[in-house]
Amino acid sequence: DKGAYPFYMLKEIDEQPAVMRKLVQKYFDGDQPEIDNNLLKDMNDADHIYIIGAGTSYHAGLIGARMFEKLTGTPTTVHISSEFAYEQPLLSKKPFFIFLSQSGETADSREVLVHVNENKWPSLTITNVDKSTLSREATYTLLLYAGPEIAVASTKAYTAQIAVEAILAKALGEYKNISAAAEFDLKQQLGTIANGMQAITDSKDTLEAVATHYLSKPRNAFYIGRGIDWSVSLEAALKLKEISYVQAEGFASGELKHGTIALIEKGTPVIGIITQDRTAGLTRSNLEETESRGANTLTIVSRHLAKEDDTIVIPDVDELLTPLLSVVPAQLLAYYTSLGKGLDVDKPRNLAKSVTVQ
Ligand code: M6R
Repeated sequence: DKGAYPFYMLKEIDEQPAVMRKLVQKYFDGDQPEIDNNLLKDMNDADHIYIIGAGTSYHAGLIGARMFEKLTGTPTTVHISSEFAYEQPLLSKKPFFIFLSQSGETADSREVLVHVNENKWPSLTITNVDKSTLSREATYTLLLYAGPEIAVASTKAYTAQIAVEAILAKALGEYKNISAAAEFDLKQQLGTIANGMQAITDSKDTLEAVATHYLSKPRNAFYIGRGIDWSVSLEAALKLKEISYVQAEGFASGELKHGTIALIEKGTPVIGIITQDRTAGLTRSNLEETESRGANTLTIVSRHLAKEDDTIVIPDVDELLTPLLSVVPAQLLAYYTSLGKGLDVDKPRNLAKSVTVQ
């Protein structure tokens, strides 16, 4: 039931702080994450983690891979399920597979899992739906506890997937005695994130005004960023495409000058996501390059990196976890762009919530 909300998507965006708190409650015992020891043992035995997903789940995997590498020291790669199924890369000797799937029913991802099981490789499904196909067929399951996600555009499942990946990465890192994991105060960070998400969802009026002013007319828009901010750009752009039919793309900001900048014309919206100390200055100068070619630039920036003219300023959190906050304004910008165009936000054309064909 969507109660007083006009669309499920808005309700689901607003539920994200509560989902973060629920995950703390479900996965932490005191300050430590509690994860099945057999799962940690199997992951510890692996020499490479392969994350498999489609759409938004693939995007959540891009964030997770960085967490596994930084907090556990295990090489981790992310793969689009429909690609992996038919163009399998050369695998390491002891692979471990993580399937990310909100629904647990995505046919492309299942195709990979069938193959993984034929080879008796260990696997984990991270899903919102207990007893779903991918959950039943994988060796292990971790649940997202996000509650039903009805809107076709995934929002709370994305942030829940990232949070569960962080919890698992911390638990595995501690199991492997990696100091970066021990020092990572994830429980406290997730509390800060829940409050930060709340602050962003409380600023809906500003985001609606930005969407109306900058995004309702143009046919194209770009999100740019570097590293983890680039990964969020891909998800931010998917949201805008999916529900507002703006042809949006996410780009690595350093790549713009290698081709894409030719697309910039007067009034093209270019939104920079800036949350990382090392690359903030570079993304800013890439934004300026587009501005001098006529782009309408906007920014989603972490507070400690913010300047006076920044459009959307988000609270500070650990650099590995910034996607949990930077994606929220992007979700709301997509929502209000779609709403302003009078579209059916929850049921965009040509799309189904769960994609059970290849
Ligand atoms: O249920 P899954 O997470 O496996 O679904 C994967 C994609 O179909 C899904 O994330 C899709 O991209 C969303 N509609 C994006 O908002």
